[in-house]
Amino acid sequence: MTAGLQDAYGRAITYLRISLTDRCDFRCVYCMSESMQFLPRHDLLSFEEIVAVVRALIPAGLRKVRLTGGEPLLRRDLPELVQTLAALPGLQELALTTNGSQLARWATPLHRAGLNSLNISLDSLQAERFHRLTRSGQLADVLAGIAAAAALPWARRRLNALILRGRNDDEIVALAEFAEAQGFDMAYIEEMPLGQIEEHDRALQQVPSTEILATLEQAWGKLTPLAWGSGGPARYFQRPGARQRIGLISPHSHNFCDDCNRVRLTAEGRLLLCLGQEDALDLRAVLRQQGEAAVLPAVQQALQRKPAGHTFNLEQPVQLRRHMNMTGG
Ligand code: 5AD
Ligand code: SF4
Repeated sequence: MTAGLQDAYGRAITYLRISLTDRCDFRCVYCMSESMQFLPRHDLLSFEEIVAVVRALIPAGLRKVRLTGGEPLLRRDLPELVQTLAALPGLQELALTTNGSQLARWATPLHRAGLNSLNISLDSLQAERFHRLTRSGQLADVLAGIAAAAALPWARRRLNALILRGRNDDEIVALAEFAEAQGFDMAYIEEMPLGQIEEHDRALQQVPSTEILATLEQAWGKLTPLAWGSGGPARYFQRPGARQRIGLISPHSHNFCDDCNRVRLTAEGRLLLCLGQEDALDLRAVLRQQGEAAVLPAVQQALQRKPAGHTFNLEQPVQLRRHMNMTGG
């Protein structure tokens, strides 16, 4: 076996997304069902265990880590974890995806601890609508978080919106213009069929990336495709003369699996080989029974089972029972 993190299709895995908790202070309609069961706390990986996994994989080529959830800021003392990870030699990018609700308080400590890239989810700029989409969120809290983050020098910062027909598809242009004014890139994500939800029919409310692009071009004129990539699944575009990049994340209309470079670690330590499949390696068991030295060989072996791609199909009933908050959004 090679020393690297190569899968059976020759794809090099350089990017690990880590869900720190399945809990969240929001209940976004596309992410969670109204009533969710959360993991007991002792089932979560400890910060020490998370650091052990990252430390074990860096010598084999891991370069980028994203901390996600649920809502990662619900993990207490997050800046301590960030500081420890940021100090590991060889890690080039340490990113966070957050709903922004508590960012007003934590943006500066996280930046100081060494976080260098930030994604904030924002689906609407209308307070009432925002509250309905998140089933509980206060837009003002998130806007305060965005303002706090905007004042700091990140290597990369982006707002993410999930667009649903009839819910927020009239805000496509407004969201990008707001992001630009705050100095953020903007990305639009197609909804993925993860977990059963009650609120809407996913096939009916899907807004394909091609339509989002057309809407933006109608408002602004032609966008230029960029060769630049952020090391994730987004394809990027730019308005001539603008600083902002526009990202499209299109699991349905444009399959991004061919150049997949990532795997995910769930909050309870299962290494998911693919966003759209259930197969996983129980890394928590490996760590707790065999220790840190067993992590790299176990991951290398599991990577040989990484599938060629997801098989999302909106015409069929949900096949994946795991919601995005378990998966690491
Ligand atoms: N499909 C795509 N993205 C999702 N998210 C949550 N659930 C889904 C889903 N079913 C996204 C949110 C947020 C990030 C944490 O995950 O929009 O930006
Ligand atoms: Fe929480 Fe993000 Fe899921 Fe919304 S999408 S419920 S903010 S984890």
